Amino acid sequence: MSIETKSNIDIENYLDKQKSIIDTNLKSLFEKNKNFSSPDELWNAVKYSLLDSGKRIRGIFCLASFESSTRNDDFLEDCLTIACSIEIVHAMSLIHDDLPSMDNDDLRRGKPSCHKAFGEAIAILAGDAMLSLAFQLVTEHTKNISSSQKLNLIDVLAKAFTLGLVPGQVLDLMNSETGGDLKLTEKIYKLKTAELIRASILCGAIIGLDPDNQFGNKSFELNEKEKILEHFSNFGLKVGIAFQIIDDILDITSDTKTLGKTSGKDKEQKKGTYPMIIGVEQSKKIAENLISEAKSELKKIPLKTQILSELSEHVINRIN
Ligand code: IPE
Ligand code: IPE
Ligand code: MG
Ligand code: MG
Ligand code: MG
Repeated sequence: MSIETKSNIDIENYLDKQKSIIDTNLKSLFEKNKNFSSPDELWNAVKYSLLDSGKRIRGIFCLASFESSTRNDDFLEDCLTIACSIEIVHAMSLIHDDLPSMDNDDLRRGKPSCHKAFGEAIAILAGDAMLSLAFQLVTEHTKNISSSQKLNLIDVLAKAFTLGLVPGQVLDLMNSETGGDLKLTEKIYKLKTAELIRASILCGAIIGLDPDNQFGNKSFELNEKEKILEHFSNFGLKVGIAFQIIDDILDITSDTKTLGKTSGKDKEQKKGTYPMIIGVEQSKKIAENLISEAKSELKKIPLKTQILSELSEHVINRIN
């Protein structure tokens, strides 16, 4: 495994490569650990929803911010484990998001959603298992990062879920039928989507900026490091909000086959999304502005952040 450091990156190629690294790692987790195989009903549902599918953008962001923060390969494998944890949390959030009591979506990642394939009870339990599995990976499957770093990562990941994604999903549910308030919608985007994307970027930077893991010969003073993390954090938040705006635009402008999930779902459920409230064009502009603000944050970071900049650009140009 090597760290990608080129500055003129072919982004599609980079995404494919990083996705395949994450996919392989996730698969081997189940091949190597027989604990994650019985009962079949549970783990088949987990593997069905997790393996070989999804763009892996959160995991890729995590690896990219690590790559921007260090040249020390010793921590790369642990960063990959954390990238997998994040993808596991994300995949379980999709299983629950699709449930009949939530978005009631029958299609996910180009196939029947978990509850359609395995029933509602198993889908809920698969999600439960995945959420705890994600944290188990941090505690049990990392090799070189220190215990205090593990705590730090668990803290970031847990808070993104408890204080971000879950309250965001609750507000999102309440926003159905009554949608229309742009400020509230922005808050929902921030919570349900941007917090986990921000956490992905922060986790990579936290590992990369570990004092034991110096950037070449350069180690940062504590307050310098905190400032850098704050810029990563601001970058992640803006990218995350833009990500959800684009998801909501694609729900209107794209088709089910391209998306691998049911298009037109937000309208059907009368969700208050940006494009529903202010139209597709204006929403696209807001997303573009957010990405340019996000890139300004990167400029304040005294590290090589070109790949993060290209990834943020991809977020608004993506087709699914
Ligand atoms: C879908 O996320 C849910 C949102 C937060 C918009 P992705 O678009 O990253 O879904 P996958 O992982 O590629 O399936
Ligand atoms: C994001 O919103 C869902 C999560 C944060 C889990 P959506 O409900 O729009 O996501 P999709 O469109 O179903 O993937
Ligand atoms: Mg939803
Ligand atoms: Mg949904
Ligand atoms: Mg959506």
